[in-house]
Amino acid sequence: MEHYAIAIDGPAASGKSTAAKGVAKALSFLYVDTGAMYRAFTLLMLEKGKDCASREDALSLLPSLEIEEDEKGRIYLFGKDVSSRVREDDVSKNVSLACAHKEVREKMVEIQRKMASTRSVVMDGRDIGTVVLPNATLKIYQVASVEARAKRRYEENLQKGFSKESLEEIKQDIEQRDKIDSTRANSPLKQAEDAILLDTSDLTIEEEIHEILVLFHKKVGEETWKHLVPSH
Ligand code: DC
Repeated sequence: MEHYAIAIDGPAASGKSTAAKGVAKALSFLYVDTGAMYRAFTLLMLEKGKDCASREDALSLLPSLEIEEDEKGRIYLFGKDVSSRVREDDVSKNVSLACAHKEVREKMVEIQRKMASTRSVVMDGRDIGTVVLPNATLKIYQVASVEARAKRRYEENLQKGFSKESLEEIKQDIEQRDKIDSTRANSPLKQAEDAILLDTSDLTIEEEIHEILVLFHKKVGEETWKHLVPSH
């Protein structure tokens, strides 16, 4: 059976994961949150008292690493569910450092490709369209203004109790992360040539999901669409 892949890349807090989850649900595809994998690895480094900026420290933890993601997008580190823990401030502040090491990225890309090899997926991250799944059926590069992103993350944190950071602090964190993610040497955040740019600053989540589904429908054509979404 043919497998489809929707790659959604973009900067921090651009609403990728909520949209990706909604799209995956509508199409019955597997949702893969690649950021959560880098976050889980960062958590491991912190728990082991390692320096996230040190390549040597990162390498020492890679050989035995066990990271898994389940159907619901929950993330497991050595079998333990760390889905909430990886959203906390210490992980958020260090993840850009830990994920920049070439070997860490290679290991994660291997796991991600394996997940997409057996099922249709909606995968979100920074390098999905450019590196992980260069042949994805549809590539979206999702952007939103820093203000819109900071506001979304602030409201999400308030609701979920992940962080007590002010709106201004979150804005600064996002700007800092954007800078590190887009200037790093290994797989920097950038729009794939064949990705469609989607500015979500003024879109609701429902509008965003709808937009991506319309683009996917156009890509695969009516026959495949009807097969995937029989009720439409
Ligand atoms: O999407 P997120 O905020 O959970 O991502 C956490 C960090 O992981 C972010 O700073 C960038 C990095 N990341 C990456 O380098 N490549 C990916 N495919 C996904 C995330």
